[in-house]
Amino acid sequence: MGEYDGKSADAVPVRVWDRPTRLFHWALVACLAGSWITGDQGMMDWHERFGLTALALVVFRLVWGVVGGEFARFSSFVRGPAAVLRYIRETASGRHPEHAGHNPLGALSVLALLLLVATQATLGLFASDDILYEGPLYHLAGYDLSSTLTGWHHQVFDILLIVVIVHVVAVFAYMIFLRDDLILPMVTGVKRMAREDAPARIRRTPCWVAAIVFVLTAAAAYAISLLG
Ligand code: HEM
Ligand code: HEM
Repeated sequence: MGEYDGKSADAVPVRVWDRPTRLFHWALVACLAGSWITGDQGMMDWHERFGLTALALVVFRLVWGVVGGEFARFSSFVRGPAAVLRYIRETASGRHPEHAGHNPLGALSVLALLLLVATQATLGLFASDDILYEGPLYHLAGYDLSSTLTGWHHQVFDILLIVVIVHVVAVFAYMIFLRDDLILPMVTGVKRMAREDAPARIRRTPCWVAAIVFVLTAAAAYAISLLG
């Protein structure tokens, strides 16, 4: 493990993010932006569409985290507190260890983001704007409980926004202070790494598996929307 910026001649390209993981990421960004704008503007039909698509994407990602390609799997990047502390210590002391997939600290933000988006969208299902719109599962909650959950829908959004800001600031901090560009690999899938750090064999899962999983999660989200 070296402090390696991937620019020297013996750097090798490593396919770190498979296409489904990259599509998931940028589609999720688009859906959260869409949910925010439409929620703010009171465009509730579109708010529900964006929000339910975000929910379908997160459920897809949870499944892909089990059946997906090497670096998409939770088992490849979720580490215990000891590994996280070791990573922080090494990075702080100037020896930034390169990871092909998520580093142990980044893994925590991945889990936090997935959990928060899932919570936010699930709360929305029970929410109401008290004017014209009720979430598709509003009737299961009834007026009082729905009011509480709608309040949480607002509060969790504030927390989500803070975690997203930390996420984006962290990504830019890696680029500026550690000279580690994480963004390009999330676009192209490819990261350049020192030959000795590059993994020898990368397990892949075909994209059609991802397509089937996403069609199923999207169909489930659509079915929920019909309950309203
Ligand atoms: C609504 C806003 C966002 C959300 C909810 C979000 C969520 C996530 C999630 C869940 C992952 C884990 C990817 C996976 O393994 O599936 C991730 C990774 C990543 N995101 Fe975001 N993201 C957001 C915005 C952004 C933006 C604006 C950028 C770029 C400027 C960005 C850059 C990245 C990068 C580079 C990674 C990979 C980090 C690594 O190499 O460990 N994200 N993001
Ligand atoms: C992750 C996805 C979601 C995000 C980021 C999100 C975000 C927001 C935000 C920021 C607001 C407040 C808008 C404002 O008052 O200015 C809001 C309101 C609302 N959202 Fe969502 N939402 C999501 C998913 C959903 C879903 C899936 C539903 C229902 C199917 C839903 C139903 C509602 C309702 C009913 C309100 C109005 C609450 C009120 O007027 O007090 N949301 N949402």
